[in-house]
Amino acid sequence: MKIYVTSNEIPEEAIKILSNLGDVKVNPTSGPPKREDLFAEIHDADAILCLLTEKIDGELLNNAGRLKVIANMAVGYDNIDLAEAMRRGIPVTNTPGVLTDTTADTAMALILSVARRIVEADRYVRDGKWTIPWSPMTMVGTDVHGKTLAIYGLGRIGEVLAKRARGFDMKIIYYSASRKPGLEVKYEMEYVSLEEALGRCDFFSIHVPLRPETRHSIGARELSLMKETAYLINTSRGQIVDQAALIEALGQHRIAGAGLDVFEEEPVPQSSPLLGMSNVVLLPHIGSGSKETRTSMAVMAAENIASALRGMRPANLVNRDVIQ
Ligand code: NAP
Ligand code: GLV
Repeated sequence: MKIYVTSNEIPEEAIKILSNLGDVKVNPTSGPPKREDLFAEIHDADAILCLLTEKIDGELLNNAGRLKVIANMAVGYDNIDLAEAMRRGIPVTNTPGVLTDTTADTAMALILSVARRIVEADRYVRDGKWTIPWSPMTMVGTDVHGKTLAIYGLGRIGEVLAKRARGFDMKIIYYSASRKPGLEVKYEMEYVSLEEALGRCDFFSIHVPLRPETRHSIGARELSLMKETAYLINTSRGQIVDQAALIEALGQHRIAGAGLDVFEEEPVPQSSPLLGMSNVVLLPHIGSGSKETRTSMAVMAAENIASALRGMRPANLVNRDVIQ
């Protein structure tokens, strides 16, 4: 069996599991493999452990004669053409759950950072601008406690963010594909329409997956519904927000700021106007970025491969109908 691993940064714990299954071939380059290398490697691979940076589409799968499983080391799987995998009977797996707390922590960190100007204030000190020992209005931000958080997509991460936010005494409203009456009681949350969530919130945090119906679901119209004092937080996928519209809204101070872990183009280009905005906190897609969580994700992906290669149903099968 050949198992192709697209990153040379996969924790040893996962590589060990894979080594017991067959020959593990790891992409030796830093960063994602070149498309032509991915083509060449997938040709005789029985399994692939890939990242969200790899586009797994029909063209690539046409060249994958022996592939028995695609294990994404991410909970989001918008980089994989599920229909094409399904057509070829290839199981696709993801890594749900193990990254939920860490990603919710990142969303909460962005809320606190933008509200209290943490990154800007750090730069202020380093740049030698702190000259008066204490003054009433230096680097003042806005409070988080008592404010309203809107959660767009109340799934695993959205729910844990609600729990975090309750700890900070925030009021919570949410919009999701379905209502969650039990969680409404547990976290004293109110279910509202997307428009109402945008209009009422002080912080709007995005946790829906990227799908055709969520792509650019936050555009110029939606941003215009937000208060001038409200912040947009995105730790889901950049393409859910129309980034050009967001830049315009931020530039014209139609919203107060943003905390962004994800972008339409990653890495975000150095020419992006976002880099020049002091009311925006930018992260390099590190929502699940703790050593513990990244190790758990890699191990989970490896275990999914182990199950598939042993002819068992992987625990985290995304295209559930692929296996009877
Ligand atoms: P999840 O449990 O599947 O939650 C997503 C929720 O979104 C679901 O509960 C679903 O609501 C809701 N939803 C789906 N389509 C919707 C729509 N059209 N309108 C309104 N709500 C909709 O997923 P998760 O584990 O929380 O992860 C969420 C996303 O976060 C992932 O897909 C991934 O893109 C992103 N992520 C990013 C990072 C990072 O590093 N920045 C890390 C982890 C995850 P219902 O339950 O009501 O059907
Ligand atoms: C990260 O973005 C993930 O989807 O796990």
